[in-house]
Amino acid sequence: MTNTFLSRLDWRFATKQFDATKKLSEETLSEIKRAIRFAPTSFGIQPFHVIHVRDVAMRTKLRTASFDQTQVTDASDLFVFVARNDVSDRIDGYVDVASGGDGAAKEALSGFGKYLHGALDARTGTDVGMSWAARQAYIGLGFGLAASAELGVDTCPMEGFDADAVDAILELPKHMHVLAYVALGYRSTEPERPKVRFPESDIFEVR
Ligand SMILES: Cc1cc2nc3c(=O)[nH]c(=O)nc-3n(C[C@H](O)[C@H](O)[C@H](O)COP(=O)(O)O)c2cc1C
Repeated sequence: MTNTFLSRLDWRFATKQFDATKKLSEETLSEIKRAIRFAPTSFGIQPFHVIHVRDVAMRTKLRTASFDQTQVTDASDLFVFVARNDVSDRIDGYVDVASGGDGAAKEALSGFGKYLHGALDARTGTDVGMSWAARQAYIGLGFGLAASAELGVDTCPMEGFDADAVDAILELPKHMHVLAYVALGYRSTEPERPKVRFPESDIFEVR
């Protein structure tokens, strides 16, 4: 069981200090993106967006809005997970992608599209819609962390920032709101403390 996600559960940790000289290869980045893209979401609508921030000046601005956490600039790459609250439009996009541009397939999917509009339109643009989108996005984030661990890539999931300031720096449209970052790279120091986890009996209850 070498180099599997399960074998790396203890190896991975929320990395505080990244080695700024070590960069992820394009191939590794693309594998992690694939894992995020293939994460399951409710109805398959994928109501989130990930901004891969490579621009150094933008990373510096984000660090200022993130309590000066060094991971924001020193990690090889930074993924910013954003919830999108435009699910009604997203449904039409889903039908387009699923039909692959084929008119007959689109027609066949129209019932499903109507069903989705019925189920989801009311939440579009509301707080409920944003919170639902966020929950879907975090599944993708988790898949990204898991894939990174399997590939030997260190990560730090991060929510420590001023979300309104980050929305402004990224010039996000009104229907988008920042949720979390994942900083990715290679550790320069080992974890300072051993892992702390509540026991299985605390987290799970067998009924
Ligand atoms: C959603 C989320 C937000 C987090 N935000 C930060 C953060 O802003 N800065 C940081 O250094 N660690 C952050 N962490 C890391 C957690 O503190 C860490 O995952 C937790 O203490 C468990 O430790 P481990 O990941 O090293 O096993 C965050 C983790 C998650 C899942």
